[in-house]
This record gives sequence, structure tokens and C-alpha cells, in this order.
Amino acid sequence: MFKVNDNYLKLPGSYLFSTIGRKVREYKESNPDKEVISLGIGDVTQPLAPSIIKSIHEATDEMADGQTFKGYAPDLGYEFLRSAISINDYKSRGVDIALDEIFVSDGAKSDSGNIQEIFSVDNKIAVCDPVYPVYIDANAMAGRTGDFNADTSLWSNVIYMPCTAENGFAPELPSETPDIIYLCFPNNPTGATISKDQLQKWVDYANSVKAVIIYDAAYEAYISEANIAHTIYECEGAKTCAIELKSFSKNAGFTGTRLGYTVIPKELKDENGVMLNSLWARRHGTKFNGAPYIIQRAGEAVYSEAGKRETKAQIDYYMNNAKIIRDGLADIGYTVFGGVNAPYIWLKTPEGVSSWQFFDLLLDRASVVGTPGCGFGPSGEGYFRLTAFGTTENTIKALGRIKNI
Ligand code: MLT
Repeated sequence: MFKVNDNYLKLPGSYLFSTIGRKVREYKESNPDKEVISLGIGDVTQPLAPSIIKSIHEATDEMADGQTFKGYAPDLGYEFLRSAISINDYKSRGVDIALDEIFVSDGAKSDSGNIQEIFSVDNKIAVCDPVYPVYIDANAMAGRTGDFNADTSLWSNVIYMPCTAENGFAPELPSETPDIIYLCFPNNPTGATISKDQLQKWVDYANSVKAVIIYDAAYEAYISEANIAHTIYECEGAKTCAIELKSFSKNAGFTGTRLGYTVIPKELKDENGVMLNSLWARRHGTKFNGAPYIIQRAGEAVYSEAGKRETKAQIDYYMNNAKIIRDGLADIGYTVFGGVNAPYIWLKTPEGVSSWQFFDLLLDRASVVGTPGCGFGPSGEGYFRLTAFGTTENTIKALGRIKNI
């Protein structure tokens, strides 16, 4: 008789956003007359920009023509897109990333879950706490995280780096040496970020202990302040210790169309000199048949002059929502963080109210959905995340309702 992968049985409950989705469905069923506003999952609400839509139409038309029809995409992604990435996301920042160091995918979520496959199951991971749950769950599925303690919500074989108001939501170098370090800046969920100098310390540390950093830069487009790295490769020595994950979801609204990429420099090698780039190329070739041609053309359009202008306007729109949330909550006495270099606002729940209690309170009394901080890890308890990805109209309405609680 077949047997399931035991590692899956160790996973606690359901995935955070599935639990929230279920609670919201139940609430809507019992309150059909209430209009629910979602500031929970970080899903965009602005339509794809006109230049992106145009490129999708044009690429679709190509599919109707025997001369230009496209079948399977190249393993690593079409050269036109990798070249636009290399020029716009790296060369423009003084960083040389070769085309065969860029792997186009269907998004940063799958890449952040899958990348752990190329590492030994004995490797120890270090994560920020709170953390995007995919990093830990994917490692748990692979059997790398030990056992889950339901009382503490901690895995026995994971190094946690608490990020709270006390340390400015910036992780400190761990006292136990990790093999794999997950970092995400600007951060999901706290909305905080670290300076380029702070990031350089992580790069130096990783090189000194021969660890690899998996750097999630999905929110890079939201950086508004100076002295913050837009890519980890702006830091000296990063090519020998870092993999970078990027997404088109948050900067250009591809949450539904799906597109992302991973950079693995050829200098990045394990202790035996094995190139991670080759392993990921092998894995990509075996398990992935490429992001759709039409969507890769859409990705290329993000880097056109019109695409840059239009997507920048969308980012400004969301960041204006972030300001509305930040200022509105501060006005009524909440302690708020984030929302300056990221589309997430991380607020302290009122004294004595847990993250899930606050979730229920907001849903019951304001029909507003947010995300309980503890869903991202034990150090998220007592915090709550709101996203700036709603429409401005709904954001203002949600704030009004929260003020009346
Ligand atoms: C979030 O809400 O944390 C993210 O949007 C989820 C994701 O990107 O997968």
C-alpha cells in the first residue's frame, strides 16, 4: 500500500491564506448583506497597465499565425525577457548579471518554495520571525525543519531570527551557524527594510560561514528611500553567496498572470565546488516547461518606457494607500510600522488583544480582512498586517470603519 510523505503530516493546520480565505467565506455566508473589504492577502487590485495589455494582445495574435506560433518556451525563459531583466534590473544598478544566470519562472512563490530542493536535507535554515510562511513550509515538506511544537509554534531544527519593534524589525546575525539564510527586503510581512550597509554585513557573514542567502526581493519596486539596495548584488561579494528571487506580481500586477525569475550567479558554489546555477538549470529543465510566451512578452513590456511609467504610477497609487492607512491608524492611536518602502503596514494590536482576536474583531465589527501577525511566526503575535493593495476608495472606507470600532 502506498504511503504519503510523512513530512507533510508534520505541517500545522492549513496554509495561512487558506485559513483566512475559509474564515472570510464563512463570514460572508452568515452576513450576506455586508460588504467585505480585503486588506489581507497581498493581491493587487489595479488592472494590468495599458502597454502590458497591448503586448499580451500582440503576442496572442502571434499564436494564430503558423509563422509566429510559439510552443514550449526555452528552459531559462526567452532571451528578449532575460535581456530586458539583465539591463533594467541589474546593469542599470552597476551589476553584471549574465543571461544564463537568470531563470524565468511562473512566479517568486514557486521559486521560493522550490529552490530548497537543490540543497542537502541536512542543511540548517535560518529565517526571520515573522516570515513569509512559504519558506518554512517548503523546507518542512522536504524534511529539513525537525518537529513542529504546537505550543511555541516553532520548528525544532530551524534558526529563528526575531524581528520586532525592539530591533527595528532587522534580524540580528544568528548565534548558531546556518547553512541557508532566508532574507526578504523590503520585508513581507513587517514592511520594514534594512540599509545597504546592513545588507552588506549579511553578505560578509554568509561568505565567512559559507552559507547561502536566499534573497527575496519581490517588493524592491516599493523602495522609496536612499541607501537601500535594490538588489543584493549591489553588495560586494554577493555573487559568491546569494540567490535572488524576483516577482512581477507586486511591481506590475502579475498576481493572476504569473511571472517571476531567479538569479543564480555562476560564482555561487557549494563546499565541493558544485555550481548551484547548473543544478537549478537541471532542475528547471526537468520540472518546468517555461512561463507562457504571451506572459513573457507582457513581462518585457514592463521594461518599455510606457511600461515603466505606467507601473510606477500604480506603485505610487498603492503607496498613497499605504500612507492613508499609516496616518489614519496613527491618528486613532495605533502604533504602526512599515508602509514607507513596502506596501505592507504592520500595526500593534491593542493591549491584551491577540492577533487572531484582532482579526475576528475587524471582520465582525468592520467587515475588514487583514492578516494576523502570528500567522507569520511567533514573533508576529501582537501584530497585524494590512496591505496597501486595495483600491483607494476601499482603503478610505476600511479606515473609516476601523475608526468606528
Ligand atoms: C502575501 O500576502 O503575503 C503575499 O501576497 C502572498 C504571496 O505573494 O504569495
